[in-house]
Amino acid sequence: MTNKVRISTILELKKKGVKITTLTAYDYTLASLLDESGIDIVLVGDSCGNVCAGYDTTLPVTMEEMLYHVKSVRRGVRRALLVADMPFMSYQENLEQALHNAGRFMKEGGAEAVKLEGGEPICPVVKKMVEIGIPVMGHLGFTPQSVHEFGGYGLRGAEIQEAEQIRKSALALQAAGAFAIVLEKIPAQLATEISAQLQIPTIGIGAGVGCDGQVLVTYDLLGLFDQVRYKFVRRYADLAGEIRRATTEFCTDVRNGRFPDDSESY
Ligand code: KIV
Repeated sequence: MTNKVRISTILELKKKGVKITTLTAYDYTLASLLDESGIDIVLVGDSCGNVCAGYDTTLPVTMEEMLYHVKSVRRGVRRALLVADMPFMSYQENLEQALHNAGRFMKEGGAEAVKLEGGEPICPVVKKMVEIGIPVMGHLGFTPQSVHEFGGYGLRGAEIQEAEQIRKSALALQAAGAFAIVLEKIPAQLATEISAQLQIPTIGIGAGVGCDGQVLVTYDLLGLFDQVRYKFVRRYADLAGEIRRATTEFCTDVRNGRFPDDSESY
């Protein structure tokens, strides 16, 4: 396949100073559209728990739920690199559990890499995954699976001590073999410095323009999930408004006997 995005492509983009584009997808239709539009990485994020399942946090998301989404997205993605997010408690228990579940994403889901939240403590798991051929994307800063430990959705790394911990973790993840790191909701200056320090790319979300790439939850970017509005989200469309308009119009037409008409009937 021409132009297939691989791990080597992502590393090359950083070397060339070309920004890396990443969006989330959870189903075949949306994944196909993102892929056709030239996105570099499609992430099947555990944010599906929020936007598809309606959970308050990503914590309840299970391996089986993620596998369903990864398989659906796999059928729609041909060119982009497909990364599967490991859900809460699918890799934290022990190395065996982590490898087993990452292996399921690759074997059953057709993912080309997995993403894990966390810093230094998960580096031994990252190292082993990479050794056996499972590419890993890290995730630092505001890591949604730790929302209760953090006590909310605030900015991370604003204090020097935590900023240094994030920086150290980024270097440790790189040493463990991660091919990229998501930096979520940290000060732009810190993200810029970390990006300059690393050989591997950083993919920012709420981390400023100094990252090597950017990621957003596609439902946010499209204005499809409009219950929460984060400062770092730029809305490129208002699909929620469009869906409400279309649904209202459909209801009116059906109730008034205007749908279907002769051309829509057999
Ligand atoms: O779950 C997700 O969608 C993510 C991205 C926002 C980075 O982790």
